[in-house]
Amino acid sequence: MTKVIGQPLPRIDGRAKVTGGARYAADFNQKGQAYAVIVSATAGLGRITEIGADAISAMPGVIAVISHLNAPRLAYGEHKGVIDPAIGERLHVLQDDQVRFWGQPVAIVVADTLDHAERAAAALKVAYAAERPVVDPTGLLASAVIPEAMRRGGDAARGDADGALASAETMVDESYDIARENHNPMEPHATIAAWDGDRLTLWSKSQYVVNEQAEIAAIFGLPMENVQVICPFIGGAFGTSLRTWPHVTLAAIAARQVGRPVKLVLTRKQMFYTTGHRPRTLQRIALGATKDGKLTSLIHEGYGETSRYEEFIEALTSVSGFLYSCPNVQTRYRLVKLDTGTPTYMRGPGEASGVFALECAVDELSYKLGLDPIELRRLNEPEIDEAANKPFSSRSLMKCYDAGAERFGWSKRDPKPRSMRDGRLLIGMGVASASYPAFHAPSSALARLLPDGTAEIEVAASDMGPGTYTSMTQVAAETLGLPIERVRFSLGRSDFPPAPSHGGSWTMASVGSAIRAACIAVQEEAARRAIADQRSPVFGASIDGVTWEEGRLRRRGDTSPGQAYGDVVASADGPIEAHASTSRDPDIADRYSMHAFGAVFAEVAVDPDVGTIRVRRALGTYGAGRIVNPRLAASQCTGGMVGGIGMALMERTVLDERDGRPVNAHMADYLVPVNLDIADIEAHFIDEVDPHVNALGVKGLGEIALVGMAPAIANAVFHATGKRVRTLPIRIEDMLA
Ligand code: MOS
Repeated sequence: MTKVIGQPLPRIDGRAKVTGGARYAADFNQKGQAYAVIVSATAGLGRITEIGADAISAMPGVIAVISHLNAPRLAYGEHKGVIDPAIGERLHVLQDDQVRFWGQPVAIVVADTLDHAERAAAALKVAYAAERPVVDPTGLLASAVIPEAMRRGGDAARGDADGALASAETMVDESYDIARENHNPMEPHATIAAWDGDRLTLWSKSQYVVNEQAEIAAIFGLPMENVQVICPFIGGAFGTSLRTWPHVTLAAIAARQVGRPVKLVLTRKQMFYTTGHRPRTLQRIALGATKDGKLTSLIHEGYGETSRYEEFIEALTSVSGFLYSCPNVQTRYRLVKLDTGTPTYMRGPGEASGVFALECAVDELSYKLGLDPIELRRLNEPEIDEAANKPFSSRSLMKCYDAGAERFGWSKRDPKPRSMRDGRLLIGMGVASASYPAFHAPSSALARLLPDGTAEIEVAASDMGPGTYTSMTQVAAETLGLPIERVRFSLGRSDFPPAPSHGGSWTMASVGSAIRAACIAVQEEAARRAIADQRSPVFGASIDGVTWEEGRLRRRGDTSPGQAYGDVVASADGPIEAHASTSRDPDIADRYSMHAFGAVFAEVAVDPDVGTIRVRRALGTYGAGRIVNPRLAASQCTGGMVGGIGMALMERTVLDERDGRPVNAHMADYLVPVNLDIADIEAHFIDEVDPHVNALGVKGLGEIALVGMAPAIANAVFHATGKRVRTLPIRIEDMLA
């Protein structure tokens, strides 16, 4: 059998991407298209009192100025995709005069060129009766609410955590504050909308085209089949393109109003307003332990921010329930409602923030106990998931630590803080665990065999950068026994068989399993056709008497060349197709706790005079089941680790308390790591065979790659300097204080 899964193939779409052949949403220019620019509220709360549309409507090229005064009333029918908050109602754009947060769209200007639209939008005068918004959660923890959708299961307890903490021989009890962050992919949000009667086509940046189709159909009161969403390529997203945000609706409103296709691209600044953000979190971790290092108590309390109109929730405290063995555990999660837009998932949502707090606290405990931080974790390695009371389907955490420590040279670390130097620089080495659930969502796929001996696979999936085009082609090629060049995989159209959202690290498991099933089904179908065909060498055989390997049908036990799929198809009436839909076996989900685990190491150099922190080396080792393409997997993981460096040292959206404005809504002041910030960064994988997770044995890698990096860096900074910083990002000021 051809082994294609596991090969480190380069991206099959790599050439298209570097030659400009890959078309992103804003590249799908339509004949006669107009350009829309969003006018964003310059008040953080209140009411619009005046829109000076008349003054700009005669400006060059202006075709329409649309606000709540003249926008169509939209249906905003019931629709909640799995990525929409279960509680609350999405923002209805241009439907009333209310301003709920800074940057909310209050008008759209449509013109014949982008320049004309931008110029008129900049000239539009909007007056407000503004109030002072509440955007800082710190004083509001006492009034934080229990998330409605988590009333059952959100707070978890076993044993008596408070009692065990009070009587613990050793303890740490600390608070952590992680800044609000905004996704900053290279590609901005963009939509081109074109109506044909009451049918709408959207070329739109989306991690979830079938959800965008359903959401826009619900908003406009259209049957689903009237909306088509097309998105073959995504220039990074990290979660910001999972939901369908207001700009998509605005592009469709504009196109309908002016009777032409309309292109709408968000500015970098606008990407800090209405397309979600990682919520700021405030957390408390308390750990109690025996003097030998056995955990006796673990308390994790977390507060996340959300908007007034929706409850965004994420798994902030969930890892604390099962990462370590501990008899007394209490987790709590609360929401603070603010006058901001609704937050959303950002790579490693919940886990990245929650594990930061936990893993910094575990590191603190290791110093209190005088134990190596890896050995402290080994002492508390659980035999089962003690929160779910189930065995793990597989768990390679300590293998990750051991392999990672070896490669990283952990044994060269002097455990004493502020003891290692390189010239003037203080050197620190830190480590932290990473974990993320191995999800598996229902997906479907179509496989089609063609007379020329090639195969086509179609799924309404997405590829935001990890290499989905390539890895899915590998799964299909291996299952069909065809060389990779003979398989064409297409994604990113809402009329393809439905896929789950391209998030939650579940694409490989979910879409991959569906493709595998569709490929098996299409081979069976080909066999059935051949059996019934007198010209076929397998004519008259039973279905069990036929084998398919290397793209050929044979009678079982027969060593002759048999018949190629292409010839079966050529003899049949048109292409041979099969659909398949797959989901996780509920029995398996009942029986096992399924997560990927990893160990992340970081070495930092801190300048003791000016406080600059450089990550000199970072190494992640992950146990994530079968790795379909090691080259792309490593690339995906190092990319996630870079996100973790940003979280640790740079990323922070600062809101002005007076009006809620993000004051650093641009790439000059919202810092993300660049090449010089990254240095030597590596990702490795443990050979982990998990027979339970899914037929492919894959756990997913997208999110875990970011989890663990920030605490490893914070722990390295402590080791280098003796300064424990519990607020992210860690800044120069923290080093000099
Ligand atoms: Mo990921 S935050 O689920 O795109």
